[in-house]
Amino acid sequence: MNIQQNISLKNYNTFGISVNAKRFISVDSVYQLQQLLKIEKDIFLISGGSNMLLTKDIEKLVVHISIKGISIDRENENDVFLTINAGEDWHEFVLWCIANNYGGIENLSLIPGNVGTCPIQNIGAYGVEVKDTITKVEALAIETGKLVTFSNDDCDFGYRNSIFKKEQKGKYIITSVSFKLTKKNHLLNASYGAIETELASKNIQKPTLKNISDAVIAIRKSKLPDPKEIGNSGSFFKNPIIATTQFLALQNKYPNIPSYTVSETETKVPAGWLIEQAGFKGKRFGNYGVHEKQALVLVNYGGASGNEIYQLAEKIKATILAKFGISLEIEVNVIS
Ligand code: EPU
Repeated sequence: MNIQQNISLKNYNTFGISVNAKRFISVDSVYQLQQLLKIEKDIFLISGGSNMLLTKDIEKLVVHISIKGISIDRENENDVFLTINAGEDWHEFVLWCIANNYGGIENLSLIPGNVGTCPIQNIGAYGVEVKDTITKVEALAIETGKLVTFSNDDCDFGYRNSIFKKEQKGKYIITSVSFKLTKKNHLLNASYGAIETELASKNIQKPTLKNISDAVIAIRKSKLPDPKEIGNSGSFFKNPIIATTQFLALQNKYPNIPSYTVSETETKVPAGWLIEQAGFKGKRFGNYGVHEKQALVLVNYGGASGNEIYQLAEKIKATILAKFGISLEIEVNVIS
């Protein structure tokens, strides 16, 4: 097994934080992973590195999941059932689906990261969550080295949440994800305001999968920084869900506050709006700051430490709590 010593993880996390792995190995098969687990179980997993903030060198063996492969399990006239190995790049998979006219994940275009991590936080954007297309998740139990299959129900998906962030956190290594996608009569989701506007500007009335994907790519590019240019991890916080009574009181004070109804008693408020109102949008502190076009995104302009970014997040949280009485929850995985 090819274990490397003292490897910088800068190119393995989209925040571009430069910390070292004392020992590092990239694995490209389930078998290799099983062999490795026989020797060492106390490992640190890294995949696309798109949802983590590294704040210090990693003492544990860093295992980079690079298991590739896409297979069609079966198909009928209407649907296709696919299994994608964990190390495949998410956006490349989305583009491959669009090229093959497989529908269901086009709204999730351009999300950074790998397929294996998409169920963990149940990635979502523009009215679609990945849970709507996942049929099952296969994962290696770290303790036993055995493959376990999780059905969609077993995953217990929620908003930016799943069983892999809750009771099973740290216990499994996802090796593949299976999807059911449509081959015809696609259930297009073009009702999200920004998508509607983008399609209308191009005079598209009957959008194809590609039209939707292109619209999403254009919207994301206009708001979200490209990690290849400016280090970031997408939304740093979750959008808080608050009691509707608290929301109505806030609305009294701030009539323009945007919101989404969650249930009769709960309302979701965009954290980006709260952070902008608190004056942080576009604020730069040396090598790091808050993105100028989307306040939910913290950025590393190059050379910032994970701790600096974490301290900024804490400052934002304290300010939002004092100003709005809302406690923001960090969405990215802070490794400390
Ligand atoms: N807003 C502001 N100021 C800002 C940012 C947003 O006022 O700086 C307001 C917008 O004007 C709008 C509302 O907040 O009224 C919502 O903004 P947007 O449509 O940009 O979406 P979001 O709620 O900020 C969420 C996801 C994004 C996803 C978009 C689109 C979370 C934590 N974030 O952001 O996901 O792309 O919706 O569906 O749910 C990610 O998770 O990394 C991510 C980028």
